[in-house]
Amino acid sequence: MGRDHQLFSCRLAIVAILTFARSVLGGTSLAHKPQMGWNAWNAFKATVNYTIVQDVMERFDTLGLKEVGYEYVLLDDGWASYNRTSDGYLQANATSFPKGIEALAQEVHAKGLKLGLYGDSGHYTCAWRPGSWGYEERDAQTFASWGVDYLKYDNCGGFQSLTEAPQVRFGAMKNALALSGRDIFYSVCGWGYQFPWHWGGDIGHSYRMSGDITTSFTNETECQCKTAYCLNTGYAGCSVLSIINKMKEISQYQTQGHWLDMDMLEVGNANFTLNQQQTHFAFWAALKSPLIIGADLSKLSNDSLGVLTNTAIISVNQDVLGEPVTYRKAQSKEGLFQVWAGNVEGGYVVLLLNEKSYPQTVFLSFASLGLGAPQQVIELWSEKTLQDANTFNGTLGSYQTHVFRVQT
Ligand code: GLA
Repeated sequence: MGRDHQLFSCRLAIVAILTFARSVLGGTSLAHKPQMGWNAWNAFKATVNYTIVQDVMERFDTLGLKEVGYEYVLLDDGWASYNRTSDGYLQANATSFPKGIEALAQEVHAKGLKLGLYGDSGHYTCAWRPGSWGYEERDAQTFASWGVDYLKYDNCGGFQSLTEAPQVRFGAMKNALALSGRDIFYSVCGWGYQFPWHWGGDIGHSYRMSGDITTSFTNETECQCKTAYCLNTGYAGCSVLSIINKMKEISQYQTQGHWLDMDMLEVGNANFTLNQQQTHFAFWAALKSPLIIGADLSKLSNDSLGVLTNTAIISVNQDVLGEPVTYRKAQSKEGLFQVWAGNVEGGYVVLLLNEKSYPQTVFLSFASLGLGAPQQVIELWSEKTLQDANTFNGTLGSYQTHVFRVQT
């Protein structure tokens, strides 16, 4: 065999190995940074329809959302018909999406955006549409043939979802997507059951770590689990603060390309104060959660839009290092204020949260965090540079979070 021929065979083998590795790993390059987009569920529940989505696509441009990095338009539960076709394929709800999903995907792509759908790992979705249990390969092929770019895959759905391990159910769809021939972002929505921060990274590009968020900042409505390691039975009604608190135990487990999903944002939905909205967004950003807007974009206030499009905070989320902040117990005061910190390119970021409804004065030494000697410190919401780069000594308002970007 000639040398050229050997080289050629060697190259072919490398290409084959890389292609295989890519399909097995599920194309993690899709998730090099946490995903950013809009999802219909928090504001519209299962009533999502074509008119709403068309309006969302327009507003991605007019509100400047696309410009700052939001790219996915995600249909949640309710997009599908209650029945499969007579030969067993998923189909869109004909009243809400009369032109079907393939035509919608083309429109979304023409706008330079990407389209996501929702499915379930059991027999049914949470709103009783057909689940994909036993139909994984067929449904993944359908999504790919329609040009879908993203799948959120849920944990409802009857018998199998309670008896089969989530690793099996979510793993089956991972394999089916890898065989579909299309790069599809895989968002695992298992509500934190069986502690996916220890295994979810092998399956999804992102994975939910808690039951559903609700429009409450501090009070749980039905959230059963106030800690991450809780053998939970409920799946919904968790406040913004309880989701942040659960991350104290687990943020260190996520790795770049496999993000812990703290759920869709409630910025713009609830009657949150500006401080609460900034705190919500800052923690989701610095903990490297996906940034998925959950609001009705036609009703966003200027304050909410300002929070969602703050490029300094977004750049913390999309930072090249992909490192989440971790809770700093030594600098925090349990139940009063919290300090979180982690590396970003060129230095580190520090979050200081007043978790009380009244103002508090706090002192913090940056050097005590052990992340390097501070040269310059900017508080990102106010855009103010601290006079003394070594310490912060000041008052935070009710539920306010300062985000310090520390240059070293
Ligand atoms: C579950 C999920 C939510 C949403 C609904 C849809 O509760 O966790 O995010 O997708 O189902 O029914």
